[in-house]
Amino acid sequence: MATKRGKLIVFEGLDRSGKSTQCARLVEYLRQNGSTDVKHLRFPDRTTPIGQMINNYLAGSSQQEDHVIHLLFSANRWELAQTIESAIAGGTTVVVDRYYYSGCVYSAAKQNPSLDLAWCRHPEIGLPRPDICLFLDINAEDAANRGGYGNERYEKQDMQDRVRGLFGEMRIHEDEKDDIVVIDAGKDIETVEKCVQEAVRVAIERVDSGDRP
Ligand code: TMP
Ligand code: MG
Repeated sequence: MATKRGKLIVFEGLDRSGKSTQCARLVEYLRQNGSTDVKHLRFPDRTTPIGQMINNYLAGSSQQEDHVIHLLFSANRWELAQTIESAIAGGTTVVVDRYYYSGCVYSAAKQNPSLDLAWCRHPEIGLPRPDICLFLDINAEDAANRGGYGNERYEKQDMQDRVRGLFGEMRIHEDEKDDIVVIDAGKDIETVEKCVQEAVRVAIERVDSGDRP
């Protein structure tokens, strides 16, 4: 019997929505209960030379023109596109903390008139398509109350409010609506974890049964 392909599972949400916690828990769960290897990635991947430029920008120690940093974030995903494709083809499931959805909405939230959502999508076209994007939904105020934001460039409430609005636009867009599942991330960790597991189970079944749009 041919090996089943791996799945591409993406987590998205505002800063402080619990993404990293849920991502780590799902990876652990799939390693223990799934029948495949699991690779855990996060974007930005700050370890590459491009990732270091992004890190310096987020930390405020360097400046970048808005389009330039957008393209660097995108390039940082393209650097790993082949790795992701090969892993999936070889039967390894890839779980990713943030992907091109963040790429689009954070850039568009800057309100630069020549950097709207449509412009932001272009460099992302052709990246491996997720089998499911779990959007951990929380309002910016509740997120801020979770111990407060850090000091990185976008960790400010007005920016996060705009980001949430744009995530809302993205998840009803023709190109994305079949891939995104919204999870109420205002609930406690275990409840969110169960919802994530259930949504992932359904997504995996859809792919394995050939029932994926
Ligand atoms: P992190 O908090 O998940 O490490 O992400 C760092 C910040 O970078 C976060 O505020 C979201 C933002 N971001 C973008 O602006 N564009 C992107 O493509 C990605 C992946 C993240
Ligand atoms: Mg952050």
